[in-house]
Amino acid sequence: MLKIGIINGPNLNMLGKRDQKIYGDLTLEEINHELKSFAEKEGIELTLKQSNFEGEIIESIQQFSSQVDGLIINPAAYTHYSYAIADTIRDCLIPTIEVHLSNIFSRENFRGKSVTAPACIGQIAGFGYQSYILAIYALQDLLKEKPKK
Ligand code: DQA
Repeated sequence: MLKIGIINGPNLNMLGKRDQKIYGDLTLEEINHELKSFAEKEGIELTLKQSNFEGEIIESIQQFSSQVDGLIINPAAYTHYSYAIADTIRDCLIPTIEVHLSNIFSRENFRGKSVTAPACIGQIAGFGYQSYILAIYALQDLLKEKPKK
């Protein structure tokens, strides 16, 4: 069975209350529920983590690297300046896709720069929670011939 880990960074636990015009009105719990039921239908084992702390995100990536076949990460604001998270993604050696709910390129200038995306296979941004679904599809396709953990 394909195993995928999803990590959400700081403030994403506040979805539903955060700027709804940008992030929509779904809570993280509701999004996770959608992702879980999608994964179940596809026969994928999904493990979900959220943390507001850089070190915890780093430790989650390190742990996931021996537990899952592919990783999806929304580093949230760390996207724009965490070289530490970028290094961990590079070191973990498992295919990783960066996702964002919002289109980071259509917002403030500082959001248009991702220091973590170059460490990933690719980035999907701007489709709300569907960004995660698209990333699952991409990993599924990428990993279809690979041996499973
Ligand atoms: C975000 C975009 C980031 O710029 C922001 O700091 C977030 C959420 C997104 O999913 O659109 O917290 O990663």
